[in-house]
Amino acid sequence: MKDGGKTITICFTNNKGGSGKSTSCSNLGYELSLAGRKVLLVDGDMQLNLSLSFFDEETALDMAENGKNLYEAVRHKQDLQDYIVHTPYENLDLIPSSILMSQVEYELFAMVQREFILKKCLKTIVEKGEYDFILIDAPPTLGAWVINILCASDFVIVPVEASPWGFFGLANMFDFLNDIQDIADASVMGVLITKVDERKNYYRHARGILDAYDGIHVFDTFIHVDSTVEWAQDNSKPVAVYKKNTRSALEYRKLAEEVIRYGSGKR
Ligand SMILES: Nc1ncnc2c1ncn2[C@@H]1O[C@H](COP(=O)(O)OP(=O)(O)OP(=O)(O)O)[C@@H](O)[C@H]1O
Ligand SMILES: [Mg+2]
Repeated sequence: MKDGGKTITICFTNNKGGSGKSTSCSNLGYELSLAGRKVLLVDGDMQLNLSLSFFDEETALDMAENGKNLYEAVRHKQDLQDYIVHTPYENLDLIPSSILMSQVEYELFAMVQREFILKKCLKTIVEKGEYDFILIDAPPTLGAWVINILCASDFVIVPVEASPWGFFGLANMFDFLNDIQDIADASVMGVLITKVDERKNYYRHARGILDAYDGIHVFDTFIHVDSTVEWAQDNSKPVAVYKKNTRSALEYRKLAEEVIRYGSGKR
């Protein structure tokens, strides 16, 4: 463990689809690992996007179907220590998801203390303290499963697309996070503005809207639209691996620095 403290668990949440949760989770995870931090990624979404960020379709589907995935672990309340797979990159591990994750809400419904199943599944990993960061990619919903993810997290990063509809519903989401504070003490580490297109000049306006939310930190770093992101994902690689100094890669590197500073209390 690099910064001497405990494992920090961060989830990426926004009920708005396509806001950049999976892209940010995968690329921040890679950059943190490049900075020498040991990182465990947890793919909490049936879309398998986090798994597909590092493995080709065949491998991701194989992991999703072979029984050693997050859905099976949660369903049987298993210790996730036994579900870890290594990505092709040093210091970067993954717990794969499953397409059956869509059924997890039903599974949780019948369980005692259902909000804390994921937290319990992660307990050994967190207590062992082997990882500096655990990053959890959440689906674009706000149901019982996302509450599980929030209950297992210390912090939330909220990626928001710099577009008018990107902000629609954001206030509701902050209300939701407030409403569940009794059971989930995850705090918002920051809002990350994504897919900024300078030609549209919407970024400044977007920041203005966010400044109106009292007490919500907005990361200094924001992520521009960069077509390399899509090509990198098409090749199951982090952007920095696909094209070393592409704009978004450098931005995710700066974000990693901010997150490391935040984690060590030096914001
Ligand atoms: N900086 C960027 N530049 C260009 N395209 C991007 C960028 N960030 C994300 N995208 C693209 O936007 C789409 C949505 O991104 P992503 O899947 O990360 O969002 P999400 O919030 O995880 O979506 P969902 O809610 O469906 O899980 C993807 O097709 C991705 O390739
Ligand atoms: Mg996603």
